[in-house]
Amino acid sequence: MPCITDEYKIEKCYNLDTMAKMEDIVSLCKRRGFIWQGSDVYGGMAGTWDFGPLGVNLKKKIMDAWWQYWVEEREDMYGVDAAIIMNPQVWRASGHTETFNDPLVECKECHNRFRADKIADGISEHVTTEEFHALNIKCPNCGKTNWSEIKQFNGMFKTSVGTDPDNIAYLRPETAQGIFTNYKNVVDTIYPDLPFGIAQQGKAFRNEISPRDFIFRSREFSQMEIEYFVDPESWEEHFEKLLAGCHDFLENRMGLKKENIHELDVPAEDRAHYSKRTIDIEFDYPIGREELMGIAYRTDFDLGNIQRESGKNMEYIVKGGGKRFVPHVIEPSMGVERLVMAVLCTAYAEDEINGEKRILLKLSEELAPYRFCVSPLLKNKPELVKKAQEVYATLRKKYGNVTWDDSGNIGKRYRKQDEIGTPKCIVIDFDTLEDDTVTVRDRDTTKQERVKISEL
Ligand code: GAP
Repeated sequence: MPCITDEYKIEKCYNLDTMAKMEDIVSLCKRRGFIWQGSDVYGGMAGTWDFGPLGVNLKKKIMDAWWQYWVEEREDMYGVDAAIIMNPQVWRASGHTETFNDPLVECKECHNRFRADKIADGISEHVTTEEFHALNIKCPNCGKTNWSEIKQFNGMFKTSVGTDPDNIAYLRPETAQGIFTNYKNVVDTIYPDLPFGIAQQGKAFRNEISPRDFIFRSREFSQMEIEYFVDPESWEEHFEKLLAGCHDFLENRMGLKKENIHELDVPAEDRAHYSKRTIDIEFDYPIGREELMGIAYRTDFDLGNIQRESGKNMEYIVKGGGKRFVPHVIEPSMGVERLVMAVLCTAYAEDEINGEKRILLKLSEELAPYRFCVSPLLKNKPELVKKAQEVYATLRKKYGNVTWDDSGNIGKRYRKQDEIGTPKCIVIDFDTLEDDTVTVRDRDTTKQERVKISEL
């Protein structure tokens, strides 16, 4: 059932009470330049999204905060930035060519196609045709129950490389393989002690059967992944430590509320083909409780495959001689768009000021697209504009992400900055010209105080 303007395709309604909030967030994102439908001007392209000036600031800050937390603040993590188009052998070795499939089912009445495991809650992605037919599920489009057989649909995007159309390659469906294929390069150039991790951020592509719910499930998205290489004897200890780090990052760096974060110990039959243990970290989105990220114990599945397919030795030799083995891997994997969505859902708030509804994004100073907004009280007073521009230039040099607003009256400017999450508005007025103080207005409390420019 479509719950939102068609172009923004929120296709599945889990909870009609909270759906209004999702609709409000999507509308704010569009209205204020956070996120637009991909190729909007041509009527859109399903499953693709473009980040506007505000959205790109927020997304970049989230990605930078992740990099800082996991790579820069630790001694045991190294970064890579691998190519998106990789040798097709990578995907044969990893099992993606064979098994990166979703169960596709078609309604024989209206010919709409769906991902069988996403049509209703509690259906496994390994559901068989017989099991699916026995559930007697109604088509979400026409309400009939006349289903085709289930077919396995491979989710990798194909392309061809060079002039030969038969020279097939794939856009990477996960950033992880760009890490595994560089494991040996990192070991041979950096000589890290075990355990150590390799981190990567970048685009991933999946030909989703039904992209849905705004940026939650799209065909082009970004991932932030870590492959953490360990001695197989100690994988459980490292799994727990990384899991605790994920909670710490989400709560203390991203500002998500503890009560909205849940762990799901994924049962064996629902785990990816490479995983011996997976914990999904789920978040209470307005669309329902859904997977935000996952942490998986990938064993030596990937390095073992690379060793077999490439003929190159992937063993790690522990310093001081002696022990050698193919390391096992713990993988925390995060989708950037899902995190952006969780941050926006947490920050979105409405209140009333002087009987008037106000919308605000309670983003932290670290994540807000702009830290400050500078404006002259009146834009037709050159002496105020001049002074305000001086303050603006100084703060831009110091913080970078500062914005300028001299449109409309001051009340309207505050409302606009509240909506885009700017924590502080700085207003230059006639007193400023006398005593070099400015009004600093706080987004959340709306309280105003006079502060010396030198103390900003
Ligand atoms: N390397 C492991 C891996 O890719 P995954 O569970 O398939 O595991 C990891 O994906 C994360 O990527 C998910 O938890 C989710 O945050 C994000 N993700 C996956 N598919 C997505 C999609 N179609 N749109 C947006 N984010 C997606």
